[in-house]
Amino acid sequence: MAGKVTVVGAGFYGSTTAQRIAEYNIVDTVVLTDILEGKPEGLALDMNQSRSIEGFETKIVGQTTTVDGGGYEAIAGSDVVIITAGLPRKPGMSRMDLIETNAKIVRGVAENIAKHAPSAVIIVVSNPLDEMTALTQLASGFPKERVLGQAGMLDTARFTHFVAEELKVPVASVQTLTLGSHGDTMVPVPSRCTVDGKPLADLLPADKIEELVVRTRNGGAEVVALLKTGSAYYAPSAAAARMAKAVIEDSGAVMPVCAWVDGEYGIEGVYLGVEAQIGKGGVTKVVETKLTDSELAELKAASEAVREKQADVAGL
Ligand code: LAC
Repeated sequence: MAGKVTVVGAGFYGSTTAQRIAEYNIVDTVVLTDILEGKPEGLALDMNQSRSIEGFETKIVGQTTTVDGGGYEAIAGSDVVIITAGLPRKPGMSRMDLIETNAKIVRGVAENIAKHAPSAVIIVVSNPLDEMTALTQLASGFPKERVLGQAGMLDTARFTHFVAEELKVPVASVQTLTLGSHGDTMVPVPSRCTVDGKPLADLLPADKIEELVVRTRNGGAEVVALLKTGSAYYAPSAAAARMAKAVIEDSGAVMPVCAWVDGEYGIEGVYLGVEAQIGKGGVTKVVETKLTDSELAELKAASEAVREKQADVAGL
């Protein structure tokens, strides 16, 4: 076992991500950082004490960091750094309402990663996701394939859960896909959805599929409204941890992620939710899938919406 993964931000999303990766038992070290003094150290101690029960050898290192970059030495040599830093939304907020606050936080984190872990693959989960991913690439100066965002894995998992519940079938028999942004211009792709290999459209009427599409698009907000403080983290952390695992294991798994798109689908130069092959160097290939005309039109509209916002973050 070798390798090191850092999770920046020890809130619920960050800490559950660190725990999941440690429990995979695939790396020597998971570093968990936060600016709240003692929190990452305390959580790391607690997680380490679970090792003999859960049967994993990965050590978790907690490290308090300061806004001027103190403590970031702990992330040196990381193969993967996951950025969860930033505020989650409150009920009634859109992810976009977080843009100014989180841009400042994420920019600082990205600069420190570039300084202390210059060969890492960065996985961004902070919101608004597509914009924070673009900003992280700009602020770190990393090659675009080494910066990606987590959203499609989560949105697709939500879609799969809703379809499985509706049809009362195991989640394992359901295949779904979402592309586009992690926001209002999310593009669930019903034409690519199957249940035991059968097209979803043969199993559910169009209005029911549309209902599930809408619920998927609002999947994060539905959880936020119930929790009242904070946002979802069990499904989000599962998604981020699997992406990190694909990098560590150089698996070549194809996953829906936020990746740099330059030419695929006729879309130029923007971070957008697409299917991509994930390996040691980050995104090794954007994989184009067959879409209906209306799905392709929605994906192009999503790319224009995020392109505009991603241009804004450069100045934040
Ligand atoms: C969600 C947040 C984490 O979708 O973006 O739950």
